[in-house]
Amino acid sequence: MNVEELISKLSIEEKLSLLVGVGFFDVPKSVPGAAGETRAVSRLGIPSIILSDGPAGIRIFAVRLGEDRLYLTTAFPNEILLSSTWNTEVVEEVGKAIGEEAREYGVDVVLAPGLNIHRIPLGGRNFEYFSEDPLLSGEMAAAYVRGVQSAGVGATLKHFVANEQETNRTRIDVVVSERALREIYLRAFEIAIKKSDPWAVMAAYNKLLGKYCVQNKWLLTDVLRRDWGYKGLVMTDWLAGDNPVEQIKAGIDLIMPGDDKTLQLLIDSYRNGQIDEETINTRVRNVLNLIAKTPKARGYKPSGKPDLDKHREVAYRAAVEGFVLLKNNGALPIKPSAKVALFGKGSYRTAKGGLGSGTTYPLSIVSIASGLKEAGVSIDEEVEKVYNNILPMVFGSLDPSQFIRAMRVDVLKDKKADMISLLLFELMENAIDALEYMQVAEDVFSEEFLDRVAERNDVAVITISRTATEGRDRNPVKGDYYLRDDELNLICKVSEAFHRRNKKVVVLLNIPGPIDVVSWRDLVDAILVVWMPGQEAGRAVADVLVGKVSPSGKLPFTWPKDLYETPAMRTFPGEPRNDPIRVVYEEGIYIGYRYYDSFGLEPAYEFGYGLSYTDFEYRDLNISFEGEAVKVRFKVKNVGGYPGKEVAQIYVRAPRGKLDKPFQELKGFKKTRLLNPGEEEDIEIVIPITYLASFNGFKWVVEKGVYEIRVGTSSRKIKLVGSIEIEKDVCFDVKWEKIGCG
Ligand code: BGC
Repeated sequence: MNVEELISKLSIEEKLSLLVGVGFFDVPKSVPGAAGETRAVSRLGIPSIILSDGPAGIRIFAVRLGEDRLYLTTAFPNEILLSSTWNTEVVEEVGKAIGEEAREYGVDVVLAPGLNIHRIPLGGRNFEYFSEDPLLSGEMAAAYVRGVQSAGVGATLKHFVANEQETNRTRIDVVVSERALREIYLRAFEIAIKKSDPWAVMAAYNKLLGKYCVQNKWLLTDVLRRDWGYKGLVMTDWLAGDNPVEQIKAGIDLIMPGDDKTLQLLIDSYRNGQIDEETINTRVRNVLNLIAKTPKARGYKPSGKPDLDKHREVAYRAAVEGFVLLKNNGALPIKPSAKVALFGKGSYRTAKGGLGSGTTYPLSIVSIASGLKEAGVSIDEEVEKVYNNILPMVFGSLDPSQFIRAMRVDVLKDKKADMISLLLFELMENAIDALEYMQVAEDVFSEEFLDRVAERNDVAVITISRTATEGRDRNPVKGDYYLRDDELNLICKVSEAFHRRNKKVVVLLNIPGPIDVVSWRDLVDAILVVWMPGQEAGRAVADVLVGKVSPSGKLPFTWPKDLYETPAMRTFPGEPRNDPIRVVYEEGIYIGYRYYDSFGLEPAYEFGYGLSYTDFEYRDLNISFEGEAVKVRFKVKNVGGYPGKEVAQIYVRAPRGKLDKPFQELKGFKKTRLLNPGEEEDIEIVIPITYLASFNGFKWVVEKGVYEIRVGTSSRKIKLVGSIEIEKDVCFDVKWEKIGCG
C-alpha cells in the first residue's frame, strides 16, 4: 500500500470513514466475537481490519453460525501472574503465541496489554495490569508487545492513562501531579513504547485533569507524540468520551467501536470548518500506516488452525513461573506419593482468569484436582465426592462452560440464531463464570468427617478463589477482599484436624489481586498464590506442589497488612463517595513500596517478595560507569537443595537533595536461568543514567551525590550494597535531551 498515494485519492468522506469503526452491533462478520473492525474503502483496495481483545488470549466466539467446528483459543495466565514471573522471555513467548492465534484467526490487532498501575488492591482490573511499579510494568508490557508483533500482528497499549479504578470509569476525573504522572503513570507507557514500538495505543475512559483522556490534547499530542515521538495509531476505548470532534482534534486516529452517526457528525464538522483537512490527513496517515502492516493488507490467508498444543505448553510454562510462595513452614513441596485432602471449590472449579473483555474461551480448564491426579497424586475421594455433589447443585449437572457450548453449537449450526444471540450466549457464559466463583458455602464438613479425613491423608490443600471483572472495582467486604465466615471456618477446622496429627495445611490463593491474609495466615503452614493461571492451572499447580518446579514468582505489588494502610485508599474511590466524579491521587509518587519504605510501614509481604524451595547466595558486587549508564555486576549462586530460578532486583537509593525522593526505587531486575544446586550465574544489569532522574515540574533532574545501589531478593531483603557518585546535577528535557540545570 502506498499511503501517500492513497491519501491523495481518497475523498474527504472516505478519509473520515477510516477514522470511525463499523459499530458495536455490527460485530465483525469475518471474525465473530472480535471487539471491533475498521471500515474498508474497497474502490482503493483498503481492507477493513479486525481488532480483538485481550490480555489473556484472543477473545473471539468459539462458535460460528452454521458451523460445527469450534474456534478455540488458549487461555493464558492473566497479566498479574505474568509480571510475577519477572521473566521478560516468558512474557514475550506468551505474547508471540497470542499473536500467532490472532493471525491464524484473522485478527490484525490485539487489544492488549493493559498497562495501568496497581494503585489500589481493590482495582477491578488489576488482574489485567502488571504492577505498582512503572519499570516492571513497562518492561513486561514491552516484552508482551514484542512477542505479539513478532507474529506480524499489532499490539495495543491500554488504557492511556490513569485508568486505575473501574468505579465510574467513564466519568471519573483523575487529579494527579505532573511529577507522579511523569514518574509513575506515564512512565510505564513511555518505557513500553521506547522498548517495543507498539502499533497502537488505546486512550482510556476516564478524564485526566478535567479532560477526557480521549479528548486530551496535552496527553495525546504533546506528551505521546511530541515528547515521546510516538508514530503509531491512537484509538479510543470503546464508547469513551463525549465529543468525537474534540477527539479527532486532540489526537485520536480511530474512534471505536464507531457508528454511522459519529461518522456523519465528523463529515458535518469538516463541512462547517470545525476540523481541517490537514488534521484529517494526519489521522488517516496513521490509520493507513497501521493497516498497511496488517496480515489482511499483506494478503495473508488465516489458517483457522493455530497450534493450540504448542500454546498450551506456553501457557503452562508461564503459569508455573508466576506462582508466589508467601509462606512455607516445611509443608512444601509435598511428596508425590502423599495422600492429599483437597478442599475449596476452587480446587475443583479453578478460576482461569478475570472476566470482561479480558476473558477467553478455551476448550477446557485443567482444575487443580485434575492436575494433581494427572501428576499421579492421590486425592481423597470422599472429599472430592462432597464437592462433586455441591457444585452441580449450583451449576447444573454439566460443567457450565461445556453446557453452554454444547447448547450453542446445537442452536447455531442450524442457523437458528443471529449475531445478537451469539452475544447473549457470550454474556451468559460470563455470568455463569461469575456466579461460579461467588457463593458456594465452604463450611460443609462436620468435625468427625474432617477427623477421619485427617487420619487417612498426609496433607490438606485448601483453595480460596475469587474473580474480578472490568466495570467494577472489588469490594472491601467478606466474600471479596476478606474471607467469608464459612471460608475462615473451613481453614480453622481443617487446620485443627490436621495439626492435631502433626500434618500440614497448605492454602492456594486463586485470585485476581490481593485479599486479606493477616487474619488467617498464622493458622496454616504454607500459602502459595497461583493468581488466575489460565487453562493449564492444575498442571502448573501440581508441579509446584510436588516440587517438580520450585516457585520463582515474586510479588509485583505491595501486599498490605491492612487494606486501609494503602495510601491510595484514603482517596479511593473519589468524591462524592457514593457516586464519585473526581479522584485525587493525593499520595503523589508515594504509591506501593515507595510509600511503605519511605514511611517505615510494615506490609504483609513486600514488593518483590516470594519464597523458593531453595536458597540463593549473592556475592561479588561490582559497579562501574559505562558511558551514560551504570553497570551493575554480581553473582547469584543456588546454595540450597533444589533446582530453582531467582529474581535479582536492583533498588537505588538517591542522595538527599532538593527533591523529595522515595527511600528506594526499582531500577533493574533479572531472572536467572534454572540453577541446579551449586550452580552460579553472573548477572549484569545496565541502568541508564536517565533512570535515576526525577521530574521537578519542568524537567528531569539527576541530582548530584552518592547513590546507593541495593541488590536484593526482594525490596526488603537486600543482599549486597554498593554506591556510585554523580559529581554534578544532570538535567534532561521531556524528550530526554540533555539540557543545562540552571
Ligand atoms: C475495555 C477495553 C477493551 C474494549 C473492547 C472496553 O470496555 O475497557 O479494554 O479492549 O472494551 O472490548
